[in-house]
Amino acid sequence: MSKYACMKDLFAKIYKDKGPLGKWAAQAEGYFVFPKLEGQISNRMKFQGKDVITWSINDYLGLANHPEVRKVDAEAGAAYGSAYPMGARMMSGHTDLHEKLQEELAAFVNKEAAYLLNFGYQGMVSTIDALVAKDDIIVYDVDAHACIIDGVRLHMGKRFTYKHNDIVSLEKNLERATKMAEQTGGGILVISEGVFGMRGEQGRLKEIVELKKKFNFRFFVDDAHGFGTLGATGAGAGEEQGVQDDIDVYFATFAKSMASTGAFIAADKEIIDYLKYNLRSQMFAKSLQMQLVVGALKRLDMLRTMPELKANLWTIVDALQSGLKERGFDIGTTQSCVTPVYLKGSIPEAMALVRDLRENYGIFCSIVVYPVIPKGLILLRMIPTATHTLEDVRETLDAFDAIRERLVNGTYKRMSAALIAAMGE
Ligand SMILES: Cc1ncc(COP(=O)(O)O)c(C=O)c1O
Repeated sequence: MSKYACMKDLFAKIYKDKGPLGKWAAQAEGYFVFPKLEGQISNRMKFQGKDVITWSINDYLGLANHPEVRKVDAEAGAAYGSAYPMGARMMSGHTDLHEKLQEELAAFVNKEAAYLLNFGYQGMVSTIDALVAKDDIIVYDVDAHACIIDGVRLHMGKRFTYKHNDIVSLEKNLERATKMAEQTGGGILVISEGVFGMRGEQGRLKEIVELKKKFNFRFFVDDAHGFGTLGATGAGAGEEQGVQDDIDVYFATFAKSMASTGAFIAADKEIIDYLKYNLRSQMFAKSLQMQLVVGALKRLDMLRTMPELKANLWTIVDALQSGLKERGFDIGTTQSCVTPVYLKGSIPEAMALVRDLRENYGIFCSIVVYPVIPKGLILLRMIPTATHTLEDVRETLDAFDAIRERLVNGTYKRMSAALIAAMGE
């Protein structure tokens, strides 16, 4: 036996504590988390054998199962398989079509150049890492997506958060950052999202850009939810707010409006040329596979030439959001397609409510509870898409009326009494 046998086992903490979400696995897994939605991706799918209206898939423009998209994806799969090209972009994974897609993406978001990323999450982490050096300072929104937080974690220098979408707080932190930068001799990177994906507010890009008159910083925007859904041409939150030119580095993923996998960053050519040689997520990982590149070219073409996709999306967004408001639901401060519905209740009540929605009303949406939002609140997060119909909206609104009544009259409290007792809620 090793003489260190009595030392603490690395796995001891894992056996003891499954983490803030993992601890709910027994009650939640397979139903509230890791649910299996079946059938073609669309407004109506199957969950545990039942038909449900799906409000939890970021297929904003309805491209995931569009026949033209499916055809191109299948043809590209047949032509290239899933391996091609092998190797990282710098080594052996570069092609004309990767370049073509980059050029078309850059033109679409009105930037000089773009560079592809295999995954949005890794790409964001890596871009933040590549943009800052030790003496630089990052100032970012406290409610930023995990990929921003993780990118900032890699930073060896100083970082400050500002209160969510709070320009006064940003200004204060820019003052602190500026003082700090004077000492370190570095620069400042401000990071915001174009649309905050949980609650749907747009980042206050216009006001942030205004601060460039007073402070010296570069501005990086993660527009995962804005790309394809906002702006006259669908170029995102920067276009919507008229400040696309003042965003120094623009990011969007293919995982939402483009209904695929992959992502890109866009900026001045000199910045992209630098990132191309310094983005570790791309230098040390296999290139985006060709089927995804060909598929993205097709999807981008559809974004450009089929404005009816975005128009259909917004018809549904407007009907859903105005219907909820008219019926007295609290949808917070959303300024995008993301539609949160806030209700008051405990976690067990939220579970009973969502089960009722799925089982008895055929409505599938995601729930968000504490610690992501304050204790005592339930957030039902709904993602409208261009494939939803006004009939889907009507059915959903009627179901929401019914579940609100049952929440208020204590039905869910009674249904979840055993769970409430077990959890000490
Ligand atoms: C704001 C935001 N940034 C980045 C990502 C990560 O993108 P991807 O799914 O391409 O990794 C997501 C989620 O998809 C997101 O919501």
